[in-house]
Amino acid sequence: MTGSLWRDTAAVDEAAAVTAKLTDSIVDGLLTAPPGLEARVYEAMRYSALAPGKRLRPLLVLAGARLFGVARRSALQVAAAVEMVHAYSLIHDDLPAMDDSDLRRGRPTCHKAFDEATAVLAGDGLLTLAFETLAHPDTHGSAAVRCELVTALAGAAGAAGMVGGQMIDLIAERQSLDIGAITRLQRMKTGALIAFSCEAGAILAKAPHELRLALRGYAHDLGLAFQIADDLLDVQGSADETGKPVGADAAAGKATFVSILGIDRARAQAELLINQAVAHLDLFEQRAELLRQVARFVIDRRT
Ligand code: IPE
Ligand code: IPE
Ligand code: MG
Ligand code: MG
Ligand code: MG
Repeated sequence: MTGSLWRDTAAVDEAAAVTAKLTDSIVDGLLTAPPGLEARVYEAMRYSALAPGKRLRPLLVLAGARLFGVARRSALQVAAAVEMVHAYSLIHDDLPAMDDSDLRRGRPTCHKAFDEATAVLAGDGLLTLAFETLAHPDTHGSAAVRCELVTALAGAAGAAGMVGGQMIDLIAERQSLDIGAITRLQRMKTGALIAFSCEAGAILAKAPHELRLALRGYAHDLGLAFQIADDLLDVQGSADETGKPVGADAAAGKATFVSILGIDRARAQAELLINQAVAHLDLFEQRAELLRQVARFVIDRRT
């Protein structure tokens, strides 16, 4: 793909590996199972939240926090919280009532490895634990900052964000949507959590409005490009590499950027969005290099 030439693969891969290790160790600590019978739901939560994924949202949180010199522990608490919300969204997305998928992150989905009711509860448990984590004093010394994080994540994850996008996504299986409606659905179902991840460092640092706006601009384009890349992988990727079934969108008759624009135009649109995303980072100069590289990764990825 064009642009791959200037992508510093090693830098992103190393940052992603470090992020995954550090975030997983926080999630691992939060998910220590108690001795009672409820241990089963912890087991299911661990199964999904600690399964090998890209940890893109934690990477965005850490890369954004680095711009402002935020304390590592604070950033990691937020990274763990957003990854738990993401893991919950995947568990529920895979349920028979939604995408009815058997494979996730290269393993049987949560409801296959456990059972449907346990998968619903594991999702519920991860969602609530995410907010408990944000509210914990380890996240930030200021209760006002913690409250702002909680409000921002709730907005991104709820019916005005990811949940609302998932609702429209299901409707898109039965009703034809135009490109404007698909754009809105993608921004809600995927873009909102990505935007929270990009802005969290600025919230933790109480950064000036202008800098937050720049990050929001970056995230706005990045989130949409990310979902277009996901839709392209559903057509062109392999289950071995993505760790999830391919061809699922077409089989469900789901309208996506790819079904409407075709492969070439969808890819061109993703490229355009990534260039726009990166342009928003100019005022951070060299400090935003990792975020620039992550943007390339988002559309060059095969997983
Ligand atoms: C998959 O997200 C679901 C979408 C929002 C498209 P990711 O592609 O980030 O999944 P993992 O975390 O790497 O498994
Ligand atoms: C799901 O989108 C996005 C979520 C909010 C979980 P998809 O249904 O396209 O995600 P995959 O392809 O199953 O990972
Ligand atoms: Mg889905
Ligand atoms: Mg799905
Ligand atoms: Mg998909």
